[in-house]
Amino acid sequence: MFPKINPTQTKAWQDLNDYFAQNDFELRSLFQNNPKRFDQFSVKRENYLFDFSKNLIDEKTFELLQNLAVECKVKEAISAMFSGEKINETEGRAVLHTALRDFSNQPILVDGENIKPKIRKVLDQMKSFSESIISGEHTGFTGKVITDVVNIGIGGSDLGPVMVVSALKHFKTRLNVHFVSNVDGNHIAETLKTLNPETTLFIIASKTFTTQETMTNAESAKSWFLKRGKREDVAKHFVALSTNIQSVKSFGIAEANIFEFWDWVGGRYSLWSAIGLSISLAVGFENFEQLLKGAHETDNHFQNADFKENVPVLMALLGIWYRNFFDAPTYAILPYSQYLDRFAAYLQQGDMESNGKCVDRNGEFVQYETGPIIWGEPGTNGQHAFYQLIHQGTELIPADFIAYVKSPNQVSDHQEKLLANFFAQTEALAFGKTEEEAREELLQSGQPEEEVERLVNFKVFHGNTPTNSLLINELTPFSLGQLIALYEHKIFVQGVIWNIFSFDQFGVELGKVLAGKILKELEISEKVSAHDSSTNGLMNYFLQKK
Ligand code: F6P
Repeated sequence: MFPKINPTQTKAWQDLNDYFAQNDFELRSLFQNNPKRFDQFSVKRENYLFDFSKNLIDEKTFELLQNLAVECKVKEAISAMFSGEKINETEGRAVLHTALRDFSNQPILVDGENIKPKIRKVLDQMKSFSESIISGEHTGFTGKVITDVVNIGIGGSDLGPVMVVSALKHFKTRLNVHFVSNVDGNHIAETLKTLNPETTLFIIASKTFTTQETMTNAESAKSWFLKRGKREDVAKHFVALSTNIQSVKSFGIAEANIFEFWDWVGGRYSLWSAIGLSISLAVGFENFEQLLKGAHETDNHFQNADFKENVPVLMALLGIWYRNFFDAPTYAILPYSQYLDRFAAYLQQGDMESNGKCVDRNGEFVQYETGPIIWGEPGTNGQHAFYQLIHQGTELIPADFIAYVKSPNQVSDHQEKLLANFFAQTEALAFGKTEEEAREELLQSGQPEEEVERLVNFKVFHGNTPTNSLLINELTPFSLGQLIALYEHKIFVQGVIWNIFSFDQFGVELGKVLAGKILKELEISEKVSAHDSSTNGLMNYFLQKK
């Protein structure tokens, strides 16, 4: 059974509250007083190290946080998800993205049916299709090989593949894979400018096949194609990834060109499904399979490891510690890898669409904070943009630092410099610079005493900013799969403890519905007066000036 426990009513929460009030969790003294801190608060796994010792915790906090997970029945919730229970209760669906990457022989049942064979069937379809495009066996309508692939999708049908294709560009096949998501016509226009319809394959990726942005872009792509190709040529150039077979057929895509997935795959958890076709084309099916295997490795770890060394559970508990006890409103994701340039954007949907909720699983408004604002950019770029605020601003901003030991491109000493910055930043954030140290430094630089006193406060770094460090041996499809799944499960555990439903997204509906109504008014092109004065004013300005 999926638990429905108000976390604030648990003993662990009360204990954490009391303990929080009695302690100041000062990283300098926590490290000074415990020489074994790193050993105690880090987990070494086969191909990565998770160091959480630079967090504002001690042994007692660590124990209480684990008690919270136990009291909120995280273990039971994990079993419920993996076994196919319909834990997405508001939509009456199971949550089984984990089944898509389950290479064990265990059957997984949904409504009494083992879903493993149909997952395998689509994987086989993806494999043979990818291979025929990459090898050049599948040609376009004039017999030329396909050179470019355009994935048209948005949200979960875009962000995951975009992030993975960027992260694995060092595994690139000969195909150029492009992504069009925004309904802003400039996105598709700029993408198509350089492409030739004879050598372009379009993937229409939409779970529902109703999303306005995707349908609009898909129609525009089809019109562009039909300027050169004929209706019967569409079959060679358009495929669809969807759960809505009927609507795909009505769009004009043949059944053989549909890669199916199912309603038990949430949009933001769908890169492991047919939605990953663009990944399979970009890096080859074998690498896509490695990505799945990496995620499966994390799934096993998540299900079996003790909470003390269960990386996603630890990540989740630490996040809750800052969100609910330290009142930290945001959480930064800071990958020291240019390959992970879209990782924070991807996690924004993963985390905020999942845990941006204010109603608990009993249907009551929550009286505590839930999901934080997720943001971030790769280091070292971020250091020259927003790190000032993390170091000396007024908010506590916990952060995850992610880096790779080895780089696929050995460019002089870039890697050492990159990692030096990573280590330096987590050190500086943790320990800062005290007033005494700042004063001493100014005096050492030969400044007169008066000047030293004038400047000293500006030079103080408060420190005590908590960070997790994930140091991964190498960026491979397997390790990327592991990493993504760590975050998926972190988000899951937090949703379980916050007692919210992480797998619906009703919050995106209102804007969609209003946009539909407004679009009709814009099409009529008459003066608008049905809205509030601001919306009327904006629409009328647009109508006048367009
Ligand atoms: O933004 C809302 C949302 O439903 C996401 O959850 C989803 O990933 C995205 O739209 C795209 O939906 P679809 O794949 O059905 O086009």
